[in-house]
Order: sequence, then structure tokens, then C-alpha cells
Amino acid sequence: MKKVERNIIEVKHLKKHFGQVKAVDDVSFCVKEGELFAFLGLNGAGKSTTINVIAGILQKDSGTVLIDGIDIDAHSEATKTKVGIVFQNSVLDKKLTAYDNLSLKAALYGIRGKEFLVKIKRINGLT
Ligand SMILES: Nc1ncnc2c1ncn2[C@@H]1O[C@H](COP(=O)(O)OP(=O)(O)O)[C@@H](O)[C@H]1O
Ligand SMILES: [Mg+2]
Repeated sequence: MKKVERNIIEVKHLKKHFGQVKAVDDVSFCVKEGELFAFLGLNGAGKSTTINVIAGILQKDSGTVLIDGIDIDAHSEATKTKVGIVFQNSVLDKKLTAYDNLSLKAALYGIRGKEFLVKIKRINGLT
């Protein structure tokens, strides 16, 4: 049986203006679960602004954003934990080891202690 495709991200009529600058002006799109989605545009097209709104870093002016069916306005904490971002530039702390960097980032997502050790073993291929 064919798997039912569901929208993991839905952006509807998103607007974000900075004064006179219409950074994002009525943008709508959907990303299906498991889909590789490329969001391309010229410099200043509004890509980062859109991503920052989806990630809950920036407040939108209007429109709707659903993450896994959940409205970011109604449940901002729940949706923030579902979104991960890999930034354009490295955000690793050079003073920490790779392990400590992972431990720190995991803790920000509430993954600590035994749960962290289980996950780190799995990505190291030890389990
Ligand atoms: N914090 C801000 N204050 C004022 N203008 C901004 C701000 N962030 C982005 N802009 C403007 O909004 C537009 C879209 O920027 P941005 O989302 O960074 O585009 P992109 O990521 O596609 O290059 C640009 O004109 C940019 O100068
Ligand atoms: Mg950008």
C-alpha cells in the first residue's frame, strides 16, 4: 500500500517586512515528510528570513506556519524542538572536543545522560 504523504512543513501566506523592505511577501509552500526540498533565491530574496520564522527565531507579521501539523503560534516550544538547522557557517566551539560539542547541542534539545550515551553509541556504529 502506498504511504500517505503528509506535510512536515506548511507555510501559508507568510509575510515579514522590515520597515519599507518586504523581505517575505505572501510566500506559501509545503514540504512533504522525507522530501529533500531546495529553497533557492537571489541574495536578499528572503530565504533566511523565512527559515528564521520557521525555526521560531524571528516573529512573522502574518501568515501561518505548521510544523508536523502544529501551528508555531499556538505551540512555539513544541515546534521549536522539531526543527533542526545546519547553519551556513560552522557553529562548533573550537575549544571543545567533537564529543563535547555534540553533548552541548544534544543538551539544548533536552537529550542528556543515558539517552545521550545511547544515541552517541548508535551514531558511532557501536550498537
Ligand atoms: N533584521 C533585518 N532588518 C532589516 N532588513 C532585513 C533584516 N533581515 C533581512 N533584511 C532584509 O530583508 C531582505 C531579505 O533578506 P534575507 O532573508 O536575508 O534574504 P536571503 O537569505 O534570501 O539572502 C533583504 O533585503 C535584507 O536586507
Ligand atoms: Mg540568507
